[in-house]
Amino acid sequence: MIAEFARRRVLPSPLVRTAPAAVESDVTTPRLETRQLTKRLPSGGRELTILDRIELAIAPGELVAILGPSGSGKSTLLGLLAGLDRPSEGEVRLDGRPIHDLGEDALALLRREKIGFVFQSFQLLGNLTALENVLLPLELLGRDRAEERAADLLAAVGLGERGHHYPVQLSGGEQQRVALARAFAAEPPILLADEPTGNLDSATGARVLELLAELQRRHGTTLVLVTHDPAVAALATRRILLRDGRVERVESSAASPAPSR
Ligand SMILES: Nc1ncnc2c1ncn2[C@@H]1O[C@H](COP(=O)(O)OP(=O)(O)OP(=O)(O)O)[C@@H](O)[C@H]1O
Ligand SMILES: [Mg+2]
Repeated sequence: MIAEFARRRVLPSPLVRTAPAAVESDVTTPRLETRQLTKRLPSGGRELTILDRIELAIAPGELVAILGPSGSGKSTLLGLLAGLDRPSEGEVRLDGRPIHDLGEDALALLRREKIGFVFQSFQLLGNLTALENVLLPLELLGRDRAEERAADLLAAVGLGERGHHYPVQLSGGEQQRVALARAFAAEPPILLADEPTGNLDSATGARVLELLAELQRRHGTTLVLVTHDPAVAALATRRILLRDGRVERVESSAASPAPSR
């Protein structure tokens, strides 16, 4: 039933397998890279620069936290990294291959196979239950034991008993955990999450963090997390601080936190 739903509603052309072959990555090729990445949007008759010439290189398996005040461009940057949005200028590269100018079909395929995304607003499908939301990507990818895995993932985020509930029957934090389980389901090589612990109490947030860290450890997942949560930032190998659409500072956790100058 879910596969049927997917064929009808989610994917206009489900079995297109004509994607360009993945470029082989090695340690010298960043998994994700931006060059002079700029986003401008029209606003009340003039143009607003939301992101201004961002230069980033994220290595495979890195856990990067993106921090910054509200409105500094964090969600916009994440959307561009995922190929959900298009830059006004500059480039986004995935494993060395430019993705900012790919067509919609190629982008959709790339996202399905390589990128998990957790939206700030969750974006669960309202007419599917929690379990079906998690199951959907597994079915799309034709994974074995999909239902069992989906149920395990829901249990792992503390929602084992809530699989039959629809998103409207769940609290914000519960919906967020379903969205996380859905993003974990396909074990994507890259996971981008916008405030993954933003609506969670500290115990649930800690459990979600453990899951994220485990993904990184066991599968070498590259994680880019937008966050205000110090516990998430502390886990990161690098912290990128945005302000007014620019990279204000980069902190690396290899050394003790750099003094701000
Ligand atoms: N579609 C849009 N049209 C006009 N302005 C936009 C649009 N989307 C975002 N912006 C503006 O771009 C700026 C950056 O937005 P963004 O959502 O990336 O911020 P953020 O850092 O994620 O903030 P928050 O912490 O509140 O989620 C904000 O000033 C926002 O108002
Ligand atoms: Mg945001």
